[in-house]
Amino acid sequence: MLPLQDRRVVLGVTGGIAAYKAVEIASQFVKLGADVDVVMTAAAQQFVLPLTFQSLTKRPVVVDMFHLLAEMHIGHVSLGERAEVVLIAPATANTIAKLASGLADDMLGSTVLATRAPVVLAPAMNDLMYENQVTQENLGRLRARGFTIVEPEYGRLAEGKMGKGRLAEPRVIVDIVRGVLGRTRDWAGKRVVVTAGGTQEPIDPVRYLTNRSSGRMGYAIAEAARDRGAAVTLISGLSSLPRPGGVEFVLARSAAEMLEQVMPACDGADLLVMAAAVADFRAAEVSTQKLKKFEEEGLVLRLVRNPDILKLAAERYGPLGLPVLVGFAAESENLVANARLKLAGKKVDLVVANDITAPGSGFGTETNKVVLVHQGGEEELPLLPKYDVAMRVLDVARQILSEREQGRARR
Ligand code: C5P
Repeated sequence: MLPLQDRRVVLGVTGGIAAYKAVEIASQFVKLGADVDVVMTAAAQQFVLPLTFQSLTKRPVVVDMFHLLAEMHIGHVSLGERAEVVLIAPATANTIAKLASGLADDMLGSTVLATRAPVVLAPAMNDLMYENQVTQENLGRLRARGFTIVEPEYGRLAEGKMGKGRLAEPRVIVDIVRGVLGRTRDWAGKRVVVTAGGTQEPIDPVRYLTNRSSGRMGYAIAEAARDRGAAVTLISGLSSLPRPGGVEFVLARSAAEMLEQVMPACDGADLLVMAAAVADFRAAEVSTQKLKKFEEEGLVLRLVRNPDILKLAAERYGPLGLPVLVGFAAESENLVANARLKLAGKKVDLVVANDITAPGSGFGTETNKVVLVHQGGEEELPLLPKYDVAMRVLDVARQILSEREQGRARR
């Protein structure tokens, strides 16, 4: 199933040069499975044709309230009523001012006024208009009413100068909307910490030891948890993947840095998923100067053990019962037996054992073949996209979390 299968999104497009980027936003929603109704202001139609959106969404684009009123079956408020989320991207200063005062003189205004769905605004405008006190006050009022504001970025503006006012990246806007849609799902109100990627263990100022982890599995878990409504902290080693929007992102290069970030993040968290490939060893000494060639005798590096972050988290948080602890086990043989040893050895709630020798599974691939091993049994999953594996991991973890919460309530 697609991440936004049949979710009802209303996309409001207002009249700024960034309106062309709304085309990309609509396209991304369609690819994710959503039903997208586009509402355009009159000014937006000066920048992009309704036909562009209509071709992408396969649905009529709403451009004129009075024309629609004639077709009584879609009155001027029904779009707002059926929406699960309303996104306005780009949102001009003018539209923001109108929404802040509750004006409903066009379809977009009446849709927003009539909706009970959450509203997300992605402002885009000239930097001076954005900074203007009245715009900031209007945004403040909307935020206080529960609107989510996707901050514009600093960058090149339409006039050619640099400033803050560029529409946020379409992918990031879509990601944030995915999180907002998650508020009705089973991880809403929960806090999830995910680690991802390989760590880098420095040798000298230019060299490091690392592994082949791409970060894909951990990023997929962070995205899936966000899509199910969790507040997610993603603690990542270096990865070439784009940073997901709608999650708190923390960079942790080495195992030591990761440990430093994971421990406090777990305080008050409901789930920790250690999907990072933490290097088991680091250089005993890190040279402050670049090491020279040792052509004759070669170079002997002495390595020492890194702390086992998951084990330390289990020692600290295990007795508290929260967060639920999930580890990964990359194995090339005796998958389940080794995973059971890890479950007991590290005292965690769930081990996701992946067979790194199976085709299409393990490091760097888009798919994964895993067995979920926990106290209650084990579940072998077929080869699946990493996002789907993430969903199944979250199903089991949610079950464990519910049991834990019920247990606590009884005590
Ligand atoms: O013991 P092993 O390295 O196979 O265990 C893998 C699991 O432990 C993964 O979840 C990994 O993120 C975690 N781990 C850790 N700290 C380490 C090594 C592994 O938290 N130093």
